[in-house]
Parts: sequence; C-alpha cells; structure tokens
Amino acid sequence: MSNDFPTETPAVVTCGLPYANGDLHVGHLRTYVGGDAFARALETLGQETAYVSGSDMHGTPVAVNAEQEGVEPEDFALEWHDQYEETFPKFNVEFDNYGHTHDETNTELTQEIVRTLDEEGYVYEKEIQVAYDPDADQYLPDRYVEGTCPYCGEKARGDECDEGCQRHLEPGEVEDPRSTITGNDAEYRERAHKFFAVSEFADYLTEFLDGLEGTSNARNQPRQWIEDGLQDWCITRDMDWGIDYPGEGGEDLVLYVWVDAPIEYIASTKQYTERVGRDEYDWEQVWKDEGEIVHIIGRDIIQHHTIFWPAMLEGAGYNAPRAVAATGFITINGKGLSTSRNRAIWAKEYLEEGFHPDLLRYYLTTTGGLQQDVDFSWDAFQEKVNGELVGTVGNFWYRSLLFAYRNYEGTPDTDVSEDVQERIEGAIGQTREAVNDYDLRELGRAATQLAQFGNEYIQRNEPWKLTDDEPERAAQVIRDCVQIAKAVGVLLEPIAPDKAQALWEQLGEDGAVADAHLEDALEAPPRNFDEPGELFEKIEDDRVDELNEKLAERVAAASDDEDDGADAETESDDTAADEAGSMADTDDLEPLADERIEFEDFQDVDIRVGRIESAEGIEGADDLARLEVDIGFETRQVVAGIKQLHDLEELPGEKCILLANMAKAELFGVESNGMILAAGEEADLLTTHGDAEVGEKVR
Ligand code: 2FM
Ligand code: ZN
Repeated sequence: MSNDFPTETPAVVTCGLPYANGDLHVGHLRTYVGGDAFARALETLGQETAYVSGSDMHGTPVAVNAEQEGVEPEDFALEWHDQYEETFPKFNVEFDNYGHTHDETNTELTQEIVRTLDEEGYVYEKEIQVAYDPDADQYLPDRYVEGTCPYCGEKARGDECDEGCQRHLEPGEVEDPRSTITGNDAEYRERAHKFFAVSEFADYLTEFLDGLEGTSNARNQPRQWIEDGLQDWCITRDMDWGIDYPGEGGEDLVLYVWVDAPIEYIASTKQYTERVGRDEYDWEQVWKDEGEIVHIIGRDIIQHHTIFWPAMLEGAGYNAPRAVAATGFITINGKGLSTSRNRAIWAKEYLEEGFHPDLLRYYLTTTGGLQQDVDFSWDAFQEKVNGELVGTVGNFWYRSLLFAYRNYEGTPDTDVSEDVQERIEGAIGQTREAVNDYDLRELGRAATQLAQFGNEYIQRNEPWKLTDDEPERAAQVIRDCVQIAKAVGVLLEPIAPDKAQALWEQLGEDGAVADAHLEDALEAPPRNFDEPGELFEKIEDDRVDELNEKLAERVAAASDDEDDGADAETESDDTAADEAGSMADTDDLEPLADERIEFEDFQDVDIRVGRIESAEGIEGADDLARLEVDIGFETRQVVAGIKQLHDLEELPGEKCILLANMAKAELFGVESNGMILAAGEEADLLTTHGDAEVGEKVR
C-alpha cells in the first residue's frame, strides 16, 4: 500500500468519549489504553500524531444519573470529568487534549456544524410520535423510556437496543413504552423535531466504507444497515440539558447527545492546536484539508461512527475518517461485565491493589484481537504477567543487562552481529505491519517474540561458559543481547511505556523512549551503564486467591442487594458491554447428560489443537464457511456453520480445537474432514489459553 503509515500528513487518533456519569472500569480502559497504544505506536513509526478525546457530558445517560443523585447535570458531569482527567494518566493514557462536550469550543463548533448542515439543505422538520409521561407531565427522550425493541423483541432503551441487536432506535420506535420516571406506561404524542437527512448519503457511505480501514466489523455491519435502507436521523430532543438547537423553530429543543459528542473529536483537536500553536499541529489541516483520522471505539457504537458521523462530516465539508477500529467487549470470569452487579474490575481498585498500570495495558491490548471479546480474570492476568512479562521480557532484560554490567560494565565494545541485526529488522517490520493492520496484539507479539528470541539466543550461546576461553565470542553474544534488549524496549513502549522507560534508563540512554523511533532500536546503547534491577515482579498464587475472593464477595453482595429489591438496571449506566457474554440462565441451557461414559470412550475421541489458516464463506450456503485448519500433521479442510457468526477475515491465525476423527461429511459439495468445536448460539470457538502446540491432543 502506498498510503501506509507513516504518511506525510498529520494524524489524529480519537477514542469514544466516556459518558461523565460513573466510575471507570476495565471495559473503558480497553478502549482508552488501546487508543493510547495505537497513537504511541504511530509516533514510533514517525507519524505526526495527536491523541484526543473528552468527556461526554450531555444526554440522558448523564441527566438520568444526575437526577437520581439530586444534583444538576452540569455539576454532576463536571465532577466525573475531573475524575477521568486524573485517572487516565495513572494508566499512562496521555491525551494530547482531553476536553468535554459542554465547553465553549465544542458548543460553538457543534452549533456551527448544525447550521451548515441546515444551510446545505440536510436538516428538516417533521412531526413525530414522542413518548410522553402524563403523570410526570413531560416528554421522555432516550433513557427516560424503556420498552421492547421493534427489530429483535428484546428489552430496549429509548434510543438503543443495548441488550439485544444493538441498533440505534429513533424516537417513537420502542414498543410498549414505559416511563423510567414513574414506571407507568407512556403514551405517544405528536411533536415537531429536526431531522438530518442521512438517507441522502447512502451512496457516499457505501463508497466511504469500501475505503475504510480499521476492523472489519466496522465495515461489514454498516454495509448491512445501508442495504436494509437508511432512515433519517432525529437530531433534537425535548430536554433542557444539552446544546441548544441553533436554527429556527427549535428554540425549546436541544441537540441529541450523539450530534455534539463526536464533534468533540474536532473540538478537542482544535483545543490542542490552540495550546501548542498551528506550526506544531494544525487541527484544520487534519479535519478539513488532508489528515489521517482514526477512531478507536467500542463495537456498540459502530453505527454512530460509520453512518451518522461520516454523513455529518461530509455534509458539513469536513474530512472523512481513515479508520474506525472497534474493540470487542470485556467479560469478567467468562460473564458479562456488569456495573450494577459490581462484576467489574474498577480502575481505582486496580491501582489500589498496587499493580503497575503497564501490566493491565499489556493484558488488555494483547489478550485478544482488537475486535474480539476479551475475558479478564485474575488467574489469566497472573498467567500472562508471569509468563510473558516476567518470564519472557523481564527475564531476558535482566539476565542480559546484568551479565553485561558484571562483565563489561555495560555494552561490550563491538558491533551487533549480522544475524541479530536482521532479526531486529524483522521485528521492526512486524511492528510496522501490525500498526498498519490496527493489530495491537501483533504489536505486542513483535516485542515479546523478540525477547523470546533473545532468551533462546543467550541460552543457546551460553556466554557464561565463553568468557574465559572465548572472550570475543562472549562479548559478541552479550553485545547482541544488549541490542535486542534495547529493541524490545523500543517496540514495547506503546504498550508498556513506564517499563520501557525504566529499561531505557537502565541502559544509560538519555531522554524518553517515547520519543524514540523504530529505527532507534538498531542504534547502539551507551557504552556504560549501572547495575540493572528487575523490572517485573511475579504475581503470587495467594495474591490471586485473595483477589478472586474479594471479587466473588462483592458480586455476591451486589446480587443480595438486588434480591433486596434494588432496581439495578436503573441505578447505573450498564452499557451494552456490561451485559455482553453474560452467563445464560440455566433454564435456557441444554440439560446435563444423565448417562456417564468410561474414560476409554473419551480416549476414542481424537481432539486436537489446531490453527486456522484460512476461512471463507461457502457460496450459496447462508451459514457455512470453509476453513483450513493446521493440526500439526496436516492441514484439514472443515466446514463449519459460522459464516454469519464470525468475522471470517479475523479467523486466520487463531487457535481452535478440532475433533479430528469425526466421520467425513460433504456439505454444499465441500468435504468436511473434522469438526471445530464451539459453544453457544454465537458459536464461540473453543481455543487454548496457554502454550499448547498445534497438533497436541486434548485430554
Ligand atoms: O457510548 C458512549 O459511551 C458514548 N459516550 C460515546 C460517544 S463517542 C463519540 F462519538 F463521541
Ligand atoms: Zn434489538
């Protein structure tokens, strides 16, 4: 691709704005840490980059919670905003600008953009049915009304089907509306509102999606919505809290929160320019002339970022985003993260437990692909930290630097060997490719695989046996290892910035590793450095037991509260992510088998660890996909009913579990030679969580 990062024009990386209405948890952090790591990685490639976001202050997510607390929405939201501003840096999430949607910059810009859309003829007024609570004598926008989703039949909020199909719902769409203020049935009343003519952008959006980079879910889902037919978008609400509708005939209306929220991406970039000066970073160049706009978001808000937002940008004469990367949800111990059930790992709690932020950053960015759901458990966290950071990276750093310090007082005075130079160049290439693929997991892998190579290299060459008899060879091996250690630091910096900086300082390097570019991984470290220390600490089993207990206790306490009659759902801001992946009610599960089998019977079943090499839909079959799966001895072709349930482009490279001695079958003319194992209605593919090699038998 000619247009690969780094490009000549500046980039802006944005992250979906958090509603300023409650404590931050790992679900939030996955996106903000991911965005931060991506922005840092772009910088190491030499791309001029700004990383911006802000708090989402308006709308019913804030108004409803403020009302419950008995405070004004502005005071309520500002308090959370201040807390977010303090918390993000504690996770090394360093925004170049972090604003909020209620500030002057965003208010003015929003009104200006809406005026432009109006002048361009994209805004019109229409009488619609709006939910109304006669007892409370008020209209019921968005979260003030609940009912049934007209598309999937699940319980839905006024503007989103957050527990079902995830669609955005227009006012008047939710069926059987009920007021969340009084709990009474709501009625629909006619009312004039303003609409943005999204439907006029169908062709533009189709073309836009064809060129859109990022994760494939952010292209595929909206294509389907466009095919189903786009509806125009109601952009006003009957509320006091929000940005006033700027045009005529909407004096008592405010703008829908989803109008002014993404505009904060622009406003926040503008504030950054106002702070550092246009010569340093020009927001108008990025947003209006030529720039690389990258949005990192949660997958529940794809529709807003790939339909409404690009249509608004196009209609108002702004640039289109280059990429939308949508992250999956976070589950906790295999169940949906739920703030109301206190089944969450809170940002504050994590820090209070004394864990270094870089450990969580590493876990959140490298545990799954960007668009996959990631499960957090203290056990898995321990395994990953102890295995990859302590065992691989930390171990390599420490043993190399200590050996170098003791025997050479630093970096041995010789050049890096050609082989090692090439291996480092390979890792740099892998990093560059990972960034261009928006693949943070691969970004982490480039660093840890290099550290793993370093460990093998030092082990294979045993320099401790060479120092006396072959001093030159010993010096060469250690010179190579010191260079590898430095390169791992440069490559890991986007994900673990503090730890990389500590390594940098141990090497006696000046300045900040965050300012280093990828090529610096090949520059010789200073000749002398001091005695190094260990940079990662093992997490002990009893610590994990303690953390598991604490989590179990508070989840139990929260569910007791719920049993005591508290209405958990209206008490908090449970988002779609909160409930994603939650455990099925046992009533819905297939009953356990009564009949027992002998161990010998199980041994007859040959189940293997495999790696998916390719996956493609079978033409003419609605649900079937053809997969090629490497099982060590050979590559098997299997047919699986996962076409609709998985993003096939994302599967190659994934480990899976394959029933190898399944009778062969032919489906849609394609032979299936084995069966990949999956669970649940969404065909959640089984995999391994450790080092099991491809071809190994499952016992
Ligand atoms: O869903 C949310 O949490 C919203 N506050 C995200 C807004 S992102 C944006 F476009 F501004
Ligand atoms: Zn739905």
